[in-house]
Amino acid sequence: MSALEGKTAIVTGGAAGIGAVYARAAHDAGACVLIADVMCQQGEALAAELTSAGGAPAAFVQTDVSREEDVVRMVEAAAHLDGTVDVLINNAAIYQGLGKKKSFDEITPEEWDRVMAVNVRGVWLCAKAVAPVMRAQGRGKIVNIASVVDHMGAAGFAHYVASKAAVGGLTRALARELGGDGVTVNAVAPGLVANESSLQLNDRAYVGMASQSRALHREMAPRDLVGAVLFLSSPASDFITGQTLIVDGGGVFR
Ligand SMILES: NC(=O)c1ccc[n+]([C@@H]2O[C@H](COP(=O)([O-])OP(=O)(O)OC[C@H]3O[C@@H](n4cnc5c(N)ncnc54)[C@H](O)[C@@H]3O)[C@@H](O)[C@H]2O)c1
Repeated sequence: MSALEGKTAIVTGGAAGIGAVYARAAHDAGACVLIADVMCQQGEALAAELTSAGGAPAAFVQTDVSREEDVVRMVEAAAHLDGTVDVLINNAAIYQGLGKKKSFDEITPEEWDRVMAVNVRGVWLCAKAVAPVMRAQGRGKIVNIASVVDHMGAAGFAHYVASKAAVGGLTRALARELGGDGVTVNAVAPGLVANESSLQLNDRAYVGMASQSRALHREMAPRDLVGAVLFLSSPASDFITGQTLIVDGGGVFR
């Protein structure tokens, strides 16, 4: 039996980038998948592709995770797929949207607030919306996507680094509050992935340098994250909660 057979998973920010890789992987593992993203065209196309591939159904719902009404609709749409909501992969974030690097004193309050609204409030709102369903089921898995920048710092993205540090704290807080209801809450902290977004934000040489600073000397690909995310989404991790699993080829040891 596949790891997520009979489960329903929500993947926020699942229309493109690494989120789309999680959505495909969850579907391959047997889950009904709800893709929630601001990007309509790509989200709808991916849901159609997964559905036509056969297996469990997939759907898309346009969602801005920083808006509570959108997130409530997202959970309703997921429950509509197969009656349950078993997994929430909180992946949506402003990452590519950060634009160019800016020192902390050049970031405007509006930019700061928008990053916090999506990357932190969004994670909290999605957990808040899914919690009543998971509590009623007496089980559920929340996987938050953090980042190694929390552990290493990163020049030029102070708001983003702070937002990902908050995701780690929120993961531990939610794990304490939801453990009694059978819900686990963990985070995956990726290293620098050599994807289109990272290459837009950093020059090629910087991405190459990250490869050399790892114990495993190669570029990191989105697929390198799939095992950790599926593990924390599946019953195999039922006695693990409040943890942040670093997946970066051995760059940061904690
Ligand atoms: N790429 C990396 O090197 C890296 C490293 C560490 C952590 N991460 C994290 O992994 C996740 C995915 O990274 P990525 O490289 O695919 O990023 P990305 O910027 O390419 O994709 C982010 C996705 O989130 C969606 N999104 C943005 N704002 C949204 C909102 N308000 N509501 C709903 N969806 C929204 C986007 O449309 C997009 O599909 C992010 O949480 C990112 O912070 C990425």
